[in-house]
Amino acid sequence: MRVIETVAEMRVARREIASPGGLVPTMGYLHAGHLSLARAARAECATVVASIFVNPAQFGPNEDLSRYPRDLPRDLNLLASAGVDLVFTPTAAEMYPAGFATYVEPDGALTERLEAAARPGHFRGVATVVTKLFQIVAPDVAYFGQKDAQQVAVIRRMTADLNLPVELRVLPTVRERDGLAMSSRNAYLNSEERAAAVVLYRALEAGQALIASDPAASAQRVIEAMRGVIAAEPRARLEYADVCDPDTFAPLEALRAPAILAIAARVGPARLIDNFLLRADGTWETGARVV
Ligand code: PAJ
Repeated sequence: MRVIETVAEMRVARREIASPGGLVPTMGYLHAGHLSLARAARAECATVVASIFVNPAQFGPNEDLSRYPRDLPRDLNLLASAGVDLVFTPTAAEMYPAGFATYVEPDGALTERLEAAARPGHFRGVATVVTKLFQIVAPDVAYFGQKDAQQVAVIRRMTADLNLPVELRVLPTVRERDGLAMSSRNAYLNSEERAAAVVLYRALEAGQALIASDPAASAQRVIEAMRGVIAAEPRARLEYADVCDPDTFAPLEALRAPAILAIAARVGPARLIDNFLLRADGTWETGARVV
């Protein structure tokens, strides 16, 4: 496995990449969720590139950029064991040199609600860095996690709108044994907070159960069911619970498939998000637990 730090070197290496080339963009501090993307890429692509870059452009001024967890040696071991061929680990100065002034700005309803409303500028940073990574690595296929459902919708929209020649693959959320979605930010939790954090998953389960028992339930009732579960956990503070369209993230009043049940809450120092997807065919994508 080769580790590349500069855009210039990555461009040269890119020319030697056998097609199809797969890209797995990450911010590092890898867990089984990231590795499921790398393994899927390995299974489908001749060459697999992973990127590790804690992208300053997607963090707000009061967010956790400076304390975002990092462990490059461990990440490189994990990527090597997942069969990754190339790892692109640029510095911030390499990606955003002095004078950098051009951003990709997602627009419209997708960037008005939920994560977009809670984190102004976040998706602009994501769209900009993902476009840059697509330009630098020129993958045929790029891999993303359903865990970040709104990010997936933004990147899908952007890829279509800008005619980016990259196929997107979205893989299910990988969960801890108790159901908590794996996240690099789970590292911020102490043991009591870690135990409480499963409440996001439990709230989604409660929403799903309500829909199973009453398919005519209003979106509002589903939201209230989710809120009730979070309210019962004193260590958790709800940011939003929502039922929305998985492509536009517009709110649903009458429940129908496809739909996303989306939730964000603070538990101790961590801001956590999770979702369940009700597919158009009425089946659920709720993720998979590690064994
Ligand atoms: P990061 O949070 O490191 O996540 C990298 C990729 O792993 C994303 O596609 C994310 O959805 C996926 N992922 C995270 N947790 C997951 C889980 N439990 N199960 C499955 N997939 C999971 O998302 C980002 O970085 C950044 O925004 C990035 C796309 C790299 C742009 O900077």
